[in-house]
Amino acid sequence: MPLVPTATIIDAAARQRTGVGAFNVIHVEHAEALVAGAQQSDAPVVLQISQNAVRWHGALEPIAVATLAVARAATVPVGVHLDHATELDLVAEALALGFGSVMFDGSPLPWEENLEATARVVRDAPDGVWVEAELGEIGGKDGVHAPGTRTDPDEARRFVEATGVHGLAVAVGTSHAMTTRTAKLDLDLITSLARAVPVPLVLHGSSGVPDVELRRAIEAGMTKINIATHLNKVFTETVRSALADDPELVDTRRFLGAARAAVADEVARLIEVLRTPTPSAAAGGDGS
Ligand code: G3H
Ligand code: ZN
Repeated sequence: MPLVPTATIIDAAARQRTGVGAFNVIHVEHAEALVAGAQQSDAPVVLQISQNAVRWHGALEPIAVATLAVARAATVPVGVHLDHATELDLVAEALALGFGSVMFDGSPLPWEENLEATARVVRDAPDGVWVEAELGEIGGKDGVHAPGTRTDPDEARRFVEATGVHGLAVAVGTSHAMTTRTAKLDLDLITSLARAVPVPLVLHGSSGVPDVELRRAIEAGMTKINIATHLNKVFTETVRSALADDPELVDTRRFLGAARAAVADEVARLIEVLRTPTPSAAAGGDGS
């Protein structure tokens, strides 16, 4: 069960009220680690490449082709997604390469412009492509946004109706690129948004959210859980320690291999967190 349309992974999770891990790929070792972790858990996974990562490489195609190849060789369902795109040409290129989903991020734009551009992406996307948009800018990416921003449920409902978007990223207390897992989520707001909006909700900046809060967020109605920084932290800490352990080391495979294995293990652990309901939900409590 290799590369599949992202929509099939997200829609199944939304129906089952579980979470799906959407993890970022920067190098091919990320893609290999993310799929290895998902295979350890025998669970679906979404691999996502951000516009920032594309800028870092200088082009989408090389990292995209490698990521799609890793996805096609997987034994679990894998979706490949373009993350935080603001450029429509990049969206078109990703779709031509075979991505199953794209995020058009018009969140910094005024309401009308975000709505019009998002609606155009949905209209132009081929059938079966899952389009994510964002309403209520999620803080942290460039250091100037406060994590206090919130998405209004009524605006979210009107935005989804007007654009026909298939998934919505909402601002509920997270902030991108946190290196401590100390974010406080507005769980009541997640519940209100999930009631107001008929499409799966996406939690960005999930690196800053502790395990127990991730479970509560899913119980309250979140589906796609985006995690990047936390896994980069695992990767880099492993590289740092491998290099410190052996100052003579020159073979890059030795430290990259250790980092890839560590990320795979952490992905498997995170997937268990995202798909395991909290005790109250499992017992048919408030969140079931
Ligand atoms: O779109 C990607 C994510 O929102 C990742 O955010 O690096 O804070 O986990 P993070
Ligand atoms: Zn994000």
